[in-house]
Amino acid sequence: TSEEQMYRPNFHFTPKKGWMNDPNGMFYADGYYHLYFQYYPDKSVWGPMHWGHATSKDLIKWEEQPIALYPDNDKYIFSGSAVVDTHNTSGLGTGKTAPIVAIYTLHDMTKEKENKIDVEQQDIAYSNDNGFTWQKFEEGNPVVKNPGIRDFRDPKVSWDETHKLWIMVLAAQDRTQFYSSKNLKDWKYLSEFGKNIGAHGGVWECPDFFEIKAEGTNETKWVLILNLNPGGANGGSGTQYFIGDFDGSTFTLDSNFAKKVEKENAVWLDYGKDNYAGVTWNNVPGTDGRRLFIGWMSNWDYAQEVPTQSWRSSTTIAREIQLVKKGNDYSLISNPVKEINKYISKTIKGKNLKGKGKLLIPEAGKIDLTQAIINFNLKNLKQDTYTFTLSNAGGESLTFGINNSEHYLFVDRSKSGKNDFSEKFASTITKAALDGNQKEGVFKIILDKTSIEIFYNNGEKVITEIFFPNQPFTSLSISSNQGIELSNLVLNQLNIK
Ligand code: FRU
Repeated sequence: TSEEQMYRPNFHFTPKKGWMNDPNGMFYADGYYHLYFQYYPDKSVWGPMHWGHATSKDLIKWEEQPIALYPDNDKYIFSGSAVVDTHNTSGLGTGKTAPIVAIYTLHDMTKEKENKIDVEQQDIAYSNDNGFTWQKFEEGNPVVKNPGIRDFRDPKVSWDETHKLWIMVLAAQDRTQFYSSKNLKDWKYLSEFGKNIGAHGGVWECPDFFEIKAEGTNETKWVLILNLNPGGANGGSGTQYFIGDFDGSTFTLDSNFAKKVEKENAVWLDYGKDNYAGVTWNNVPGTDGRRLFIGWMSNWDYAQEVPTQSWRSSTTIAREIQLVKKGNDYSLISNPVKEINKYISKTIKGKNLKGKGKLLIPEAGKIDLTQAIINFNLKNLKQDTYTFTLSNAGGESLTFGINNSEHYLFVDRSKSGKNDFSEKFASTITKAALDGNQKEGVFKIILDKTSIEIFYNNGEKVITEIFFPNQPFTSLSISSNQGIELSNLVLNQLNIK
């Protein structure tokens, strides 16, 4: 259909048909980044969950693969992770290549309908061809039984090099639980974290847990990523994170980070409405410890109603997460993976803009704004609002920018095209609070047909949102009443298809 053509992203991953939600089981092996995902092939709404599968050599161009895991009647395959079991600790390998072991939640729909508590348990499956075909570990499942908690899911397993153990973190309703194992089959309960800490507007889901070096130091910290729905930064689904230490058994919040959480209630990885259930890759190649992330670019508030027909949802752009230390404060920054730069087919350097009122950015009219990266700096910011407007010939527009009187970034999609499919889609302006008065704002913006990803000040604040214009946006302008100074404008045309 025409909508299908119109809204299929140019370069963000979408399944050819059917429904997708969370990214699952990401790892790298033998030249490929693997991405599995919550998948229902038969309809474009949520249903019996499979693990769909896609592969990429560079995290940008994805190729859909045959379905990896099928549900067994009413037993759905929910979210989880996968590890490369290099030393065959599981004994599930056959010798030629390291076995890949997937750890996921088995969700029993019959028990759910009967209002039982023990609906969810953790199962494993394994692959002896680097992740292309899988066997469920029938003889040994579950590897973690339900302990009497209704929401008990989304195990993320990774190798803890410091303590030489497999560590599992999973979401247990309003907290996370940690387990350890030597062989991926026998799991020992360690501890829990999170009750009454951080945002709790909804159930906790899809955690991630990893050690990461602070940029420019030799110091490492542990990061716990936690998705929750609802209760996100701007309503519905959202992703918060915590920074602390792990002694092989217990996660303890860093003391300054704890103060920040107390003050702000939660620290968000992304302030947009459309980055959910994101987690990171295991076994990323290289010695520089790259931590690579991808999210589901939608929100449970309206995901099943967005105006696409035969398929629904895409992923975010893959991002690199880095730990930054300023004084004694730690925080995460995220930026698009550098691999995207090799798809730049044309670069236009823009003229510096100075003036008041509404100024057209003429160079934006010379590129296809449905596949572009735009960088610029706003200098000498006054106590004013700086509004960027993407617009089309049909009078639709998406606005974003910085309110430097009240100190926040914003995205407003209320006039961006189709939005009446859900009351929750465009009824509020998305905001990301900034720490006080900004003197300069550095923006990197990734545009696809139906999405904007804003990386502010080298990824200190990120906003990811989707939109559905009736025709593509073709022009970009900026407005401010006080005075605009826009410099270092670079418009990069992408050509990824
Ligand atoms: C998050 C989630 C997970 C669950 C999966 C089911 O979006 O609710 O907690 O495993 O989706 O599809």
